[in-house]
Amino acid sequence: KKVVLAYSGGLDTSVIVKWLQETYDCEVVTFTADIGQGEEVEPARAKAEALGVKDIYIEDLREEFVRDYVYPMFRANTIYEGEYLLGTSIARPLIARRLIEIANQTGADAISHGATGKGNDQVRFELGAYALKPGVKVIAPWREWDLNSREKLMAYCQQHDIPVDFNKKKKSPYSMDANLLHISYEGGILEDPWAEAEEDMWRWSVSPEQAPDEPTYVELTYERGDIVAIDGVPMKPHEVLEKLNKLGGDNGIGRLDIVENRYVGMKSRGCYETPGGTIMLRAHRAIESLTLDREEAHLKDELMPKYAKVIYNGYWWSPERRMLQAAIDETQRHVSGVVRMKLYKGNAVVAGRRSEQSLFDESIATFEDDQGAYDQKDAEGFIRLNALRLKIAAGKGRRQD
Ligand code: ARG
Ligand code: SIN
Repeated sequence: KKVVLAYSGGLDTSVIVKWLQETYDCEVVTFTADIGQGEEVEPARAKAEALGVKDIYIEDLREEFVRDYVYPMFRANTIYEGEYLLGTSIARPLIARRLIEIANQTGADAISHGATGKGNDQVRFELGAYALKPGVKVIAPWREWDLNSREKLMAYCQQHDIPVDFNKKKKSPYSMDANLLHISYEGGILEDPWAEAEEDMWRWSVSPEQAPDEPTYVELTYERGDIVAIDGVPMKPHEVLEKLNKLGGDNGIGRLDIVENRYVGMKSRGCYETPGGTIMLRAHRAIESLTLDREEAHLKDELMPKYAKVIYNGYWWSPERRMLQAAIDETQRHVSGVVRMKLYKGNAVVAGRRSEQSLFDESIATFEDDQGAYDQKDAEGFIRLNALRLKIAAGKGRRQD
């Protein structure tokens, strides 16, 4: 028997390796991916080897992550519950897909992960896994074992000679998850929704108060809804996000503190830093404002909350996500041009936008003489017909308060 484990190299997943070997008497294959979490992934190799793992997969998936998951999601201006930019949610389908591909390559019949039984991540990993390999067996140690405290985990390490340097580094008081799109913090003092996050929790951004007094301007070039260049320099998707994270973080952009509804039913408080994503969201709306038809734009906005929920709840690999994606992608064929953003003390402000595909017609919109481009008399009949049903109802004495 063989199981592929999503392995971070940290204490928890190292314990899982041993626990799987013991409990299921199986061979463990580890999979560690660089998706821009900002930590070296190569050290995971020696750690896995020390645990007796023979098949070790370590991969740089940064480009794929941003190109095939983050960018498609941003075409919809996606946010969950009005605020969350889905930084963790959008990385899970990629991990799920690789787990399954590696299972197929190595002849494993099971996958395993280090998500708890209380969260969204277990749902996302497992829905993805079942969608891609219906017969797969899933092992979720956190739902099975009784190692539910730091002390018990440490004791387990001691008993099983899990190398001490695994727990040398001082553990952060938060449950964190990072990738190129965001870093998240949950737990610790954040479990009190009234308690303000400490300034030194934030790792990617300066506070708006500490941000430079001079604004930073940046020009983003769009092609079919995706950023392809910054300040005229062509870049790959993951390079774009890396660069915007730096610019955003330096200017105090992208901090978020929310209480959200988890799919499993509970509310949870989370803090997020999404500097590049916050800039991208604003800028994408700006280029769409010039290039999309009104009804196309409005319908897209109506679909967005549904699409966000699909991703949040773990249904990336579903027919409804593909269906929504096809509709969203179809709208992007003319979403090309340049947006000029001003970054200043926590704000990402649109300073200008231009496009060869623009539907904005200055000769019509002008407050000056439009030379007959628009006949203001037409508006009279337009309003009269639209008022008709309102006048009829009012005439029949319907409510007017
Ligand atoms: N609440 C966020 C989400 O569901 C972040 C989850 C963070 N995950 C973690 N393993 N720390 O997308
Ligand atoms: C976890 O439970 O592993 C993290 C939180 C979440 O998945 O929502």
